[in-house]
Amino acid sequence: MTMLKTVYITLSAALLLAGVQASAQVPVYLDASAPLEDRVEDALSRMTLEEKVKMIHAQSKFSSRGVPRLGIPELWTSDGPHGIRAEAYWDEWNQAGWTNDSCVAFPALTCLAATWSEEMSYLYGKSIGEEALFRGKDVLLGPGVNIYRTPLNGRNFEYMGEDPYLAGEMVVPYIRGVQENGVAVCVKHFALNNHEVNRHNTNVVVDDRTLYEIYLPAFKAAVQKGHAWSVMGSYNLYRNRHASHNRYLLNDILKKEWGFDGAVISDWGATHDTMEAITDGLDLEFGTGTDGLHSSGGNSYDSYHLAFPYLELIRNGTVGTEELDDKVRRVLRLNFRTAMNRDKGFGSLCSEAHYEAARRIGGEGVVLLKNEGNVLPIDFGNPGTKILVVGENAIKMMTVGGGSSSLKVQREISPLEGIRERAGEGVEVLYARGYVGDVTGEYNGVTSGQDLSESRSAAELTQEAVSLAADADYVIFIGGLNKSRNQDCEDSDRKGLGLPYGQDEVISALAEVTDRLVYVNISGNAVAMPWIDEVEAVLQAWYIGSESGHVIADVLSGDTNPSGKLPFTFPARLEDCPAHLLGEYCGERVKDTLDIEYKEGIYVGYRWTDMQKKTRPLFAFGHGLSYTDFSYGKPVIDSRKMDRDGSVTVSVDVTNTGKRAGKEIVQLYISDLKSSLPRPVKELKGFRKVSLEPGETATVSFTIGSESLCFFDPASHSWVVEPGKFEAVIASSSDDIRGKAVFEVVE
Ligand code: BGC
Repeated sequence: MTMLKTVYITLSAALLLAGVQASAQVPVYLDASAPLEDRVEDALSRMTLEEKVKMIHAQSKFSSRGVPRLGIPELWTSDGPHGIRAEAYWDEWNQAGWTNDSCVAFPALTCLAATWSEEMSYLYGKSIGEEALFRGKDVLLGPGVNIYRTPLNGRNFEYMGEDPYLAGEMVVPYIRGVQENGVAVCVKHFALNNHEVNRHNTNVVVDDRTLYEIYLPAFKAAVQKGHAWSVMGSYNLYRNRHASHNRYLLNDILKKEWGFDGAVISDWGATHDTMEAITDGLDLEFGTGTDGLHSSGGNSYDSYHLAFPYLELIRNGTVGTEELDDKVRRVLRLNFRTAMNRDKGFGSLCSEAHYEAARRIGGEGVVLLKNEGNVLPIDFGNPGTKILVVGENAIKMMTVGGGSSSLKVQREISPLEGIRERAGEGVEVLYARGYVGDVTGEYNGVTSGQDLSESRSAAELTQEAVSLAADADYVIFIGGLNKSRNQDCEDSDRKGLGLPYGQDEVISALAEVTDRLVYVNISGNAVAMPWIDEVEAVLQAWYIGSESGHVIADVLSGDTNPSGKLPFTFPARLEDCPAHLLGEYCGERVKDTLDIEYKEGIYVGYRWTDMQKKTRPLFAFGHGLSYTDFSYGKPVIDSRKMDRDGSVTVSVDVTNTGKRAGKEIVQLYISDLKSSLPRPVKELKGFRKVSLEPGETATVSFTIGSESLCFFDPASHSWVVEPGKFEAVIASSSDDIRGKAVFEVVE
């Protein structure tokens, strides 16, 4: 495959070289200095009808054909979004067994979102983009920005949390970092793919205001601020049309309202109807009927909706070629920006710089949820200290599994390895399994190579852990979820909010014999913690990827002062989650199309908990502790009044009052004190991560313009700022407000 590509590139390079001697003969489409649109039109004008149709559907599991006759190369895609997936066979999901396709696994996107750091997001995009480039990929299938609506969604770990503003701000630098490499992102899954069970047949029923205010803004930011070159249509339906060919989402919103000029790529097997695929916004069809998503006949690629069936309809006059030309233009743009980009470099794979990036991002994303009596950090250098590590997740490789984001990594440091490596001389680190979760470790032919089989009973495992714990100075329980079905895994959802595999019992049993119990939660989702009062410390450690063990040891030891904050709410009970309390959620698999109504509307996550008097979340959106403390001054606003088109600036002094250097994420929420439509109590509209030495103060300023104040008015189908009073709320988390300043929007 790569050889084929090389031939194309050589051919076009040769044409270019020839052009150096006789520049008049260089076709415009091959002239890298010509304006993009001129190149696109020139290429289009040279293509036959058959070539055009061949360009808009897959030719293999992950590639599409270019135009060989014109030296326009194939496009190669790859998952995404946390590392570059292993090479697969031409027409299969299974890995092809290459020996040079291992990658660095970067932290899962929930962890990236928890950094609240645009710098980390750019570093992530740049690094993964370099890996993609080295592996010859043109389109990275990610990032994902579907909103965290329910903690049961098996794919939340691939997304950026519950808040549209946070996800929208965090996705943009990632895109910039990737695309600067000449590799396109493919932002997914557009739109409303918020759970996995019945993902192919769920018809989401959602009102316009909720769609625009909650589920679309991160995609809009990706397109308008990030200039994403491609977008992936999702599996589900909206207004009874599949999202990958949906005129409302793709033609009306994405292309017309937002001005998206890139290509819409179908999710793999998300194309169902030829006519809709032609007219309703799909540009490039992938994954239809090859090995199981639907069944198909002999030459499956030619039978794709956007292949012979489309050609036939054109030939017999049923449809014209206007839509075809639009699709081809978009695919050509994608091609010129990536495969035919002559400025791109070579990238790099598994470089130390990439491991270093993964470690930094992970270190900024881990969230310290609780730290009673400052049990953390642990002095790993104190001889004689005895540390007991308990739990399957301390040893289990988490980069294999979870669905299309599964990776084949060059290396993965487990938490236990990281802790052992960090422990100084004379510090004893013991391990007890504690519970058995899932001992398998295989996905699409990639195996973890671990033997996790265990013959002892649950009681024996608990007993072993408890007896070792009684004698330990610290007990670190490393558990949570994993990437197996019904955990954090594509195409399945969790069955409940609780921890699986009897972990609750083991944690409670350990709590009885130690008062230095640290719980490290590995997951991409909120979990229930019925024993929260029994443990001293809790770390949310996500799926960190290759550098997992190093990052966890960095934080436990205090080498890294934790600075992540939650990108989603941890409800105490599933019933406290509005999607389950008010809205609809489908837990059972069904065959027919199923309407799922998002009755909770805009009240997702903290927008819901903010209104509750009686129930409090286990941990609020935006929560995260540090090993140091920060004090906030009184917010100062530069003007009490602003015009609708004007702005005000609110500033606040933040001081590190503790003894360690640390980073604080200052959050700005806006409250509309009186509005014609009901609005959330407050909404995130700004954040800044500041690094402070002990005693140091920083002044953090936010400029508030109309985009921070408006709501979507469904009646006029527009964003509206109403005159009246607003509050700028400065907070350390959504439930830890440090100050407020009132201002008024005047006519
Ligand atoms: C997933 C996508 C992924 C694609 C290709 C689909 O099943 O939903 O996220 O990019 O497969 O692997």
